[in-house]
Amino acid sequence: MSIYAIYFNPTGRTEKTVKFIAEQFGDYQTINLCERTMNLTNDFSKEDLCIIGVPSFGGRVPAIALEKIKEFNGTKTNTILVVVYGNRAYEDTLIELEDTLVKKDFTCLAAIAAVAEHSIMHQFANGRPDQNDLTDLSSFAKKIKEKMKETVKENLLPVQVPGNRPYREYDKIPLIPHATKSCNSCGLCAKECPVNAIPTDNPKVTDKSKCISCMHCVNICPRHARKLNPLLLSVASKKLKKSVLIEKKTNCFYKQSPSNVIEGITIHKPSSPQFFDFQVLFSIYLILFSPLSPSLYCIIKTSTQARLARFRFASSRYRAAHDAYKKILRYKFTCI
Ligand SMILES: Cc1cc2nc3c(=O)[nH]c(=O)nc-3n(C[C@H](O)[C@H](O)[C@H](O)COP(=O)(O)O)c2cc1C
Ligand code: SF4
Ligand code: SF4
Repeated sequence: MSIYAIYFNPTGRTEKTVKFIAEQFGDYQTINLCERTMNLTNDFSKEDLCIIGVPSFGGRVPAIALEKIKEFNGTKTNTILVVVYGNRAYEDTLIELEDTLVKKDFTCLAAIAAVAEHSIMHQFANGRPDQNDLTDLSSFAKKIKEKMKETVKENLLPVQVPGNRPYREYDKIPLIPHATKSCNSCGLCAKECPVNAIPTDNPKVTDKSKCISCMHCVNICPRHARKLNPLLLSVASKKLKKSVLIEKKTNCFYKQSPSNVIEGITIHKPSSPQFFDFQVLFSIYLILFSPLSPSLYCIIKTSTQARLARFRFASSRYRAAHDAYKKILRYKFTCI
């Protein structure tokens, strides 16, 4: 079995995350999708394991990374999908990555949504992935190994990842780095820009129509000469602040045993991140939508929690979870 760590990593956190996961499985080779010329084989066998990671850009897979991934050919190749995002949201990134790889005959073993420092607004998720994230990633890897054995014994269902089809529209962001006075025209950024948006003969210029604001040039410039407009950056930060207030946890979605799925509702162990999501959402649901008096609300809440401990219902999809709560709530009503 050959293990491949494949990543599109403009500022390094996708690479760090994917390599860390790959390490848990053994020695691995790397394929960097940021490089304009890739010289490694693009055909993978049934025995290979690919860990493929992309950052979420506006809740989608960056188009240039998708183009390169489409050049790969699998042969029912086992794959772990990884989406790295800056603590806002990754919306349709995982589902788009999964759809693309399934079409190329890759088999999704598990999908990880990992939080990392925001590559434009570094104050968000600053310093992540941190030690806690790495501990989570290594326990996900252990569980994936167990699931790999189970898959052989039992016909596990495909991984259900969050996201919607059609995918959300990607709105290009108006944050384009420019060269400042400290630039000495060394040409490194022009050589490495993944979309060729900086002319080699004049690296002080940026082609705004090509630039995808990936921040690779800002990250690698030895003279720290490439910068964003501070005013636009401050406006964008203020806009984003609300949606990144709560620190999100790195999350993993696994293949499920058919016996764990009832009418599209997946039963998760209380220790799983999905179960935590369920509890949070359920409490919000009760607070916002319960038309009950406070005392009755308390009875229902206690009774529901007792039942939750028994049934441990949760869903990998919020909408399905919301429907499930309504069903459970109705059920509680008739019980009281
Ligand atoms: C153009 C662009 C768009 C982004 N969009 C999102 C987003 O929609 N949601 C989010 O949580 N983070 C977003 N981020 C943050 C990145 O997903 C995150 O910082 C990731 O770690 C970057 O990967 P890298 O370190 O490999 O470059 C965006 C970053 C860039 C540069
Ligand atoms: S890497 Fe920095 S110094 Fe070199 S050309 Fe680009 S902006 Fe100028
Ligand atoms: S010019 Fe734009 S696309 Fe090219 S490396 Fe810089 S931010 Fe990325």
